[in-house]
Amino acid sequence: MDENSHLLKILSGIAISIVGFQICRKVLPWIYSNILGPQLVGSSVNLAKMGDWAVITGSTDGIGKAYARELARKGLKLVLISRSLDKLKTVAKEIGDEFGVEVRVIDVDFTAGFEIYDRIRQETAGLDVGVLVNNVGISYSHPDYFLDCYNTNPKFLRDIVSANIHSVTHMTAIFLPGMVVKRKGVVINLSSTAGVIPNPLLSVYSSTKAFVNKFSDDLQTEYKAHGILVQSVQPGFVATNMSKIRKPSVFAPSPQTYVKSALSTLGFANQTAGYLPHALLQLVIHLTEALLGEQFARNVVLKNILGTRKRALRRQEKQQ
Ligand SMILES: NC(=O)c1ccc[n+]([C@@H]2O[C@H](COP(=O)([O-])OP(=O)(O)OC[C@H]3O[C@@H](n4cnc5c(N)ncnc54)[C@H](OP(=O)(O)O)[C@@H]3O)[C@@H](O)[C@H]2O)c1
Repeated sequence: MDENSHLLKILSGIAISIVGFQICRKVLPWIYSNILGPQLVGSSVNLAKMGDWAVITGSTDGIGKAYARELARKGLKLVLISRSLDKLKTVAKEIGDEFGVEVRVIDVDFTAGFEIYDRIRQETAGLDVGVLVNNVGISYSHPDYFLDCYNTNPKFLRDIVSANIHSVTHMTAIFLPGMVVKRKGVVINLSSTAGVIPNPLLSVYSSTKAFVNKFSDDLQTEYKAHGILVQSVQPGFVATNMSKIRKPSVFAPSPQTYVKSALSTLGFANQTAGYLPHALLQLVIHLTEALLGEQFARNVVLKNILGTRKRALRRQEKQQ
C-alpha cells in the first residue's frame, strides 16, 4: 500500500512537471506575444526609422489600404500597388491629403506575367524602402471542391498562386537587397488563419497561405542577423470585400481595427493572428486538435464550410 502511494506521488509529480513545462514553454510565451506585449508594452519597432518609403501591394481596399493609412500616419512615404489605376489615384490623393506624405502609385495585375516585377523594380529604383507589406491576395468566390474548381476555372487556380505566392516571393526579392545593405527593414506578409488550421474546400487558397507562413519563418531565420524583421500575419475574418462581411464585429473587425492591432504585435511575434479574438480562435482549434484529435477538428471545420458552400450556391441560383 505504501509503495503504491509512493509510486502515485512520483507519477503525479511527473505529470505536474510536464504540464508545468508545457505552460512555461508554450502558454506563457503565447500570453506574452498575443496579450501582454502588444497591449501593455506596445511595439518597440520604429517603422519610420526603417527608411523613407513603404511599399504596399493590394492597397486600394481592405487590409492593404488600412496598412497604407497607418504607415502614412507614422510619416512614411508610400508606393501603392494595385490593379485599378483610378482607385489607386483616388486612394493616393485621400491618404496624401490626410497625412501630408508623398504617395506614388503603380498599376499592375499580380495575376499577369513576371514582367510586372521589372516594371515595379524600375519605378521604385533609388527609393529608400524600409517597409514592405505583401498584402495582395485573392480567394475563391465560395468554398468548393478542388476538382469542381479546377474543371470550371483552371486559370483561377493559376492566378491564385500568382497573386498569393509569386507576388510575395518577387516583391521580397526586389526590396530585400536594399534592406540588407542598410541592415534594417521590415517585411510584413499577409497570410491567413486558413493557412494554420484545417481548411477544406478552400484548399488552394489555404495552401498558398501556408506557403506565406513557411516562407516568412525561414526568411526570418536567414535574415535576422542582417537586421531584417519578417512577420507573417494570419487574420481570421476581417470585414472587407474579400470576406463579403459588411458589418464589423468582434470576430470580424474593420480593417482599421485589425491593422492597428496587427502592427502592435511587431517585434513580439513573427507568426501571429495579429488580433486577440483571432488568436483565441486559433487557440481553440489547436486545443480541439490536441484534446479531441485532429480528425475531429477537420470534420467540424468541413461540416461548417459545407454549410457555407450550400448557402453560397443557393444565393447564386437565386441570382441567375
Ligand atoms: N478579409 C479577410 O477576411 C482576410 C482573412 C485572412 C486573410 N486575408 C488576406 O489579407 C489580404 C488582403 O485581403 P482583403 O480582404 O483586404 O482584400 P480586398 O478587400 O479584396 O482587397 C484586395 C486589394 O488587392 C487588390 N487586388 C486584388 N486583386 C489584384 C490583382 N490581381 N492585382 C493587383 N491588385 C489586386 C485590390 O485592388 P483593385 O480592386 O484595384 O484590384 C485591393 O486593393 C489578402 O492577402 C487576404 O488573403 C484576408
